[in-house]
Amino acid sequence: MIIYNIGELVGIVPEGVLRKCGAEMSEVGTLHNAWLRIEGGRIAGFGRMEDLSTSLEMTDSLEMTDSLDAGGGMVMPAFCDSHTHVVYAGSREGEFLDKINGLSYEQIAARGGGILNSSDLLHETAEDELYEQSMVRVREMMSKGTGAMEIKSGYGLNPADELKMLRVIRRIRESVPASVRATFLGAHAVGRGYTHEAYVQEVIDMMPQAAELVDFVDVFCDKGFFSPEETSRILTEGAACGLRAKIHANELAVSGGVEVGVSHGALSVDHLERTTQAQIDALKGSGTMPTMLPGSSFFLGLPYGKGKDFIEAGLPLALASDYNPGSSPSGDMRFIMALGCVRMRLTPLQAFNAVTLNSAYAMGLSGETGSITPGKRADVILTEPGWNITRLAYNYTTPFIKKVFIGGKGLQD
Ligand code: NIG
Ligand code: FE
Repeated sequence: MIIYNIGELVGIVPEGVLRKCGAEMSEVGTLHNAWLRIEGGRIAGFGRMEDLSTSLEMTDSLEMTDSLDAGGGMVMPAFCDSHTHVVYAGSREGEFLDKINGLSYEQIAARGGGILNSSDLLHETAEDELYEQSMVRVREMMSKGTGAMEIKSGYGLNPADELKMLRVIRRIRESVPASVRATFLGAHAVGRGYTHEAYVQEVIDMMPQAAELVDFVDVFCDKGFFSPEETSRILTEGAACGLRAKIHANELAVSGGVEVGVSHGALSVDHLERTTQAQIDALKGSGTMPTMLPGSSFFLGLPYGKGKDFIEAGLPLALASDYNPGSSPSGDMRFIMALGCVRMRLTPLQAFNAVTLNSAYAMGLSGETGSITPGKRADVILTEPGWNITRLAYNYTTPFIKKVFIGGKGLQD
């Protein structure tokens, strides 16, 4: 099919560019007054409207009759969300009130709330029900323009319930058009009934079975959760089972998680609300994507990651939603982009690259999606007329989506 009369086609990236670093984050390939051709679910080509007739003649033999008038709307890559915990049971609205009344995330966790509260709810919830509840969120994310997402376990916290979560993630992956990547986050908190040491060993023991269902291993390496040494042991076992690392680091304190992640060749280190020059230096020259989650800063009232410093140091930066019941109950990537601009002072172009190509990189998918590149999956958003990248973040609550295509198929079709 051909989408024509596109006001701005944005996010054009040459083949082979898998992430944007430093000054490149301010560049967004754009074509005004354009068309985009989709074949077999993939981007087959694009060009300027004045060249469309020539292109149509060239492809006439393919009997392409299917076309869509974009009416001057913008076409952009679908959002990529490289860090979510959308498989969970129930909600934590009660803790929301505790939080409003002044308790911190750590105080709520210390009272047996937080992650353990979600773990108890998940334990009581049947697998089919967990799938249905999670799918409501996944459908909402897709309708808001997310075409690829990572989902973590970590509310099971014992072998049976972690595997239940991982099977649900697998089922979601098999039933939605969006690309889904799965991560084993057994080390999210110490499961009930375990000593700290016994639970770390349990996570290590679970690894071979979990590895059959996931792409990555993650550890919450932070104050009050898991230490860098424990993280290193868990990542070593993950690597032995073929899993690349992703890390939760520096959300509650400067944790050592960045350094341990980089030394294990982590694909990403995430959160980074509290980060010093030492972590920036550790990331330089690595293939690890620093990923910030401004939705958590917003909801928990934490500092925002200093993304600008990372970019000025020549590093790449990704942004993700962290969609979860405790610290970020939203998977709206356009809101994340707006927070990146308003609170982290990223430019709209930097934030745009952070929520598309770089977030795709952070889940090993940037060869497949995250930009307008011939051969990539046709995961794109068609906006209403009059939109551009800056306005996405500026008019941050105004509906802008006309149609979301994932793998070349309209979500609503
Ligand atoms: O990424 N920080 C650890 N894990 C989640 C929060 C999980 C929860 O509170 O349920 C996060 O913020
Ligand atoms: Fe998280």
